Amino acid sequence: MREVAIVGAGMTRFGEIWESSLRDLFVEAAAGALNSAGADHVDSIFVGNMSGGQFVGQEHLGPLMADHLGMAGVAAARVESACASGGMALNMGFMAVASGCSDAVLVAGVEKMTDGADVTNVLASAADQETEVYHGITFPGLYAMIARAHMEKHGTTEEDLAWVAVKNHKHGSLNPKAQFRGEVTVEQVLRSSMVAEPLRLLHCSPVSDGAAAVLLCPLDQAEKYTDKPVKVIGTGVATDSIALADRKDPAFLGSVEKSAERAYKMAGVTPKDIQVAEVHDCFAIAEICCLEASGLIEKGKGAKAAASGVTSLGGRIPVNTSGGLKSKGHPVGATGVAQAIEVFEQLRGESGERQVEDARIGLTQNMGGSGASSVVHIYQGV
Ligand code: COA
Repeated sequence: MREVAIVGAGMTRFGEIWESSLRDLFVEAAAGALNSAGADHVDSIFVGNMSGGQFVGQEHLGPLMADHLGMAGVAAARVESACASGGMALNMGFMAVASGCSDAVLVAGVEKMTDGADVTNVLASAADQETEVYHGITFPGLYAMIARAHMEKHGTTEEDLAWVAVKNHKHGSLNPKAQFRGEVTVEQVLRSSMVAEPLRLLHCSPVSDGAAAVLLCPLDQAEKYTDKPVKVIGTGVATDSIALADRKDPAFLGSVEKSAERAYKMAGVTPKDIQVAEVHDCFAIAEICCLEASGLIEKGKGAKAAASGVTSLGGRIPVNTSGGLKSKGHPVGATGVAQAIEVFEQLRGESGERQVEDARIGLTQNMGGSGASSVVHIYQGV
């Protein structure tokens, strides 16, 4: 297996981007990644996208995006794994380079959610149609049940959940690409309107448009593109029952645990070695559960991590320095690639006011649905 490096990155701002279509968003991010590396061709393209068909009526994104990038003819296909589509696309890109099948691979995630689709129902199509959606459940509803289970088991409070939002908005206030750059207080979170009890508006990630792209190549070819490559040293994918009711413990995300274990094993590192992490905070409770399941925070202790400052910039393990899905935004198919870009920039020392001092090893964790799929990557600065 060849060593794999990220050598370029580009992304759009996240938010309601009325002036750009799905393909415009893709091209902006992809061209940004290629230009940053001085690359004018790739061997293959993986497009992470959850639901172009339902959001904007556009399927068959591989050839469409290759063509609009001026690269008709290259191998190109869409990768779908709900909100983990971007992370899965990165896993596919990694394998294409590691196996020797491709030397230059563009991995891009894109989603256009604000063009009038019935977003709540489109997102719900990633849950179990027969046992969950048919009965009226939504994603905020599913994560509300996870939150309730965590509260019962570990004594987690609404205030603990609020601190996750406060921390991530604070980080996002430093990110020019973030959808929401305003800071919020615990009181504002606890006063915001109820979405699915106990989750309030400010506990939730928003509905967003955006795209993010990275260029991968074998490490021994990286100097063609950059003198600051970042190695991808571990990748792990895992699944779980799609229906929450089929899991032994709804407060614990088994797919996150397994995907993280696989990535740590491949990378030859442990959770203690991770110095910066982006985890899937689609709702405040998700960040808490992902930290516990990935081993970054001890089981049952995740709830207090944000309030205590452990996961803040300047804390022991800064988490979601980009602002996370909560503040940066969550264009679902783009999210996993945007997470990789945050860690890529951190490990190159290019994060400006959000820089984690001397960061050398970082992790991203991207989740699909209510935890039925999870993808973890581990990166090392060179
Ligand atoms: N965080 C902070 N502010 C938000 C926000 C969020 N998540 N969502 C909306 N807002 C703001 C809007 O900018 C708007 O502000 P304004 O009045 O100053 O313009 C206001 O709150 C109301 O926004 P609106 O778009 O009317 O909210 P909504 O009630 O239609 O949607 C949610 C709110 C939380 C239901 C929606 O964002 C949502 O469904 N989020 C979850 C998405 C999801 O499930 N993703 C997949 C996860 S697996």
